[in-house]
Amino acid sequence: MAAEAARAAGLHGVEVVVGDAAAVDRYADLAPADLVLVCGVFGNVTDDDVRRTVGYCTQICATGGTVVWTRHRGEPDLVPRICEWFAAEDFELGWLSAPEAGFGVGAHRFTGRPRPLDRGGRMFTFVDTRPPG
Ligand SMILES: C[S@@+](CC[C@H](N)C(=O)[O-])C[C@H]1O[C@@H](n2cnc3c(N)ncnc32)[C@H](O)[C@@H]1O
Repeated sequence: MAAEAARAAGLHGVEVVVGDAAAVDRYADLAPADLVLVCGVFGNVTDDDVRRTVGYCTQICATGGTVVWTRHRGEPDLVPRICEWFAAEDFELGWLSAPEAGFGVGAHRFTGRPRPLDRGGRMFTFVDTRPPG
């Protein structure tokens, strides 16, 4: 489906990998990358795993590269803390959606040096974190 969508959009340089996105080893031949998308993840994992995954972005993202991430704005709104966590890992904020937008999207640029890949590591595990109602 993703491959089909990429083809339909004329994105012929896109390679679709079907596999465990949480496994650090998956990124061994891609890191450090200029663009890292962590979309559809932060709203489905524990806060600890969000923090852990932000840390792993320092291994996957190149210096000067950008991480784009998403997170719902349901209470408790974790978006401000996510921004703090990226800042603590040498990412500078490029853009953040407005609180009233109804969704959360951020883009952070990595100003540090990529850390070595934690081979065998896992970034996150999906759980149901949706706010009730
Ligand atoms: C919220 S959806 C987001 C999909 C897409 N990234 C987007 O933004 O539209 C999350 C998807 O990730 C899948 N998923 C959960 N854990 C995963 C993992 N470890 N590796 C790859 N996909 C996973 C879920 O089954 C679900 O289809």
